[in-house]
Amino acid sequence: MASSSSFHSFSKMSLILPLCLFLLLLLISPSQGAKNTNCNGPDDEGSTLQVFHIYSKCSPFKPSKPMSWEDSVLQMQSNDQSRVLYLSSLVAGKSVVPIASGRQITQSPTYIVRVKIGTPGQTLLMAMDTSNDAAWIPCNGCVGCPASTTVFDSAKSTSFQNVGCGVAGCQQVPNPSCLANTCSFNMTYGGSSIAANLSIDTFRLAADPIPSYTFGCLQKATGNSVPPQGLLGLGRGPMSLLSQSQSLYQSTFSYCLPSFKGLNFTGSLRLGPTGQPKNIKTTPLLKNPRRSSLYYVNLVGIKVGKKVVDIPAEALAFNPTTGAGTIIDSGTVFTRLVQAAYVPVRDEFRRRMGNATVSSLGGFDTCYNVPVTVPTITFMFSGMNVTLPQDNFLIHSTAGTITCLAMAEAPVGNVNSVLNVIANLQQQNHRILIDVPNSRLGVAREACS
Ligand SMILES: *[C@@H]1O[C@H](CO)[C@@H](O)[C@H](O)[C@H]1NC(C)=O
Ligand SMILES: *[C@@H]1O[C@H](CO)[C@@H](O)[C@H](O)[C@H]1NC(C)=O
Ligand SMILES: *[C@@H]1O[C@H](CO)[C@@H](O)[C@H](O)[C@H]1NC(C)=O
Ligand SMILES: *[C@@H]1O[C@H](CO)[C@@H](O)[C@H](O)[C@H]1NC(C)=O
Ligand SMILES: *[C@@H]1O[C@H](CO)[C@@H](O)[C@H](O)[C@H]1NC(C)=O
Repeated sequence: MASSSSFHSFSKMSLILPLCLFLLLLLISPSQGAKNTNCNGPDDEGSTLQVFHIYSKCSPFKPSKPMSWEDSVLQMQSNDQSRVLYLSSLVAGKSVVPIASGRQITQSPTYIVRVKIGTPGQTLLMAMDTSNDAAWIPCNGCVGCPASTTVFDSAKSTSFQNVGCGVAGCQQVPNPSCLANTCSFNMTYGGSSIAANLSIDTFRLAADPIPSYTFGCLQKATGNSVPPQGLLGLGRGPMSLLSQSQSLYQSTFSYCLPSFKGLNFTGSLRLGPTGQPKNIKTTPLLKNPRRSSLYYVNLVGIKVGKKVVDIPAEALAFNPTTGAGTIIDSGTVFTRLVQAAYVPVRDEFRRRMGNATVSSLGGFDTCYNVPVTVPTITFMFSGMNVTLPQDNFLIHSTAGTITCLAMAEAPVGNVNSVLNVIANLQQQNHRILIDVPNSRLGVAREACS
């Protein structure tokens, strides 16, 4: 009896111990020298908005119970996978879709900002997305919006209007329909669908009012993958915020994303040409007609440590005819490179690690349980090298027992057009300047978390 029960508990222990090592809490190691978040703090000022991580302590969207480190990494990888497939699919889609496609609606955002909508202003949280032109918010009367949603009450805004059916913008929405002379539209993706009215109201970003901003006012949602916050697209397409606020912001903005290690901290989104960094390294910002919302740059090479990795030119080449090239995106978490670029980078990384044993975690294929000795990875763009410290290319488990190269191979979609995505982990604690009028993208180190 006694021996059988001690055998039993031994075998249980041998299962539970490794499991415990894996179920490490998402790391929340605070960094120094950054601004502390005050959730009920003063409003955003000037033209600068605070940027919160979706899991930050001020975010109502943080998971109700802490997720294990492994689960959170796997979830981010899976969200990334569908996002990169979506971004790749844009090449085949319509050039003008002012509202998020269903596929984007199913994505978990990473960074959120506060926006005041209507007169008087109602504060809503919106996901910041540099690869999207759309803006949409959950509105009063929404059937099926998640229970946790804060809705915009259009009836309380004196400046709110629904867009009539004859208006030009109504031809650009997917599946338009006309009810009581209101332009409505809907989209489905997978098991989820949304229906929205095309509406107009004042958006206030920090202290700047943007009158007559056109957005999607969500009226109906089915399925369970509709996130509870709005979407603020900062893409460069014709219906985007940048296009609608051209006179105010002149298609210029910059942002610094806080690390998701420092969940108490906020980054910033600075809109317009005023106050942007003057001395910043830049590379030409390219426009690809096949994916007109996206911010393309010319990635010409990658260094692992000091070694320039041998990558075939066609894996990186910008091609306006096919839509191929490299984009900078705020919504993907981990950089994705097409196979022909990823494999040589990974192989050089592994070579530098000598005979240390390689393991994998979900979509990461280069993980170690010894300290990583690769000091830097450099993205070489036309006219600008960006050298990333380990914080921007490694992900560590809380206890530091597992470290992975936080990049992966791009998923192979059904489009014949390669897309490399420089993602937000690689941008954290850097100021990224988007300057459309001067066709340049700038990068500078900045500790915002
Ligand atoms: C979506 O739009 C189409 C075309 O206007 C319409 O026939 C359909 O009923 C709408 N579906 C929903 C769920 O609103
Ligand atoms: C959306 O449009 C429908 C049809 O005109 C209307 O009944 C509904 O009140 C509108 N919703 C909002 C929030 O204005
Ligand atoms: C972050 O916030 C948590 C919860 O409010 C607090 O316990 C912790 O001390 C904070 N860390 C820093 C570095 O401010
Ligand atoms: C590689 O393995 C050899 C033989 O086991 C050992 O002597 C050497 O120190 C290892 N090198 C590294 C970099 O770990
Ligand atoms: C980037 O690094 C490469 C390789 O080290 C070097 O040849 C090139 O001149 C650098 N470019 C810039 C703009 O500094």
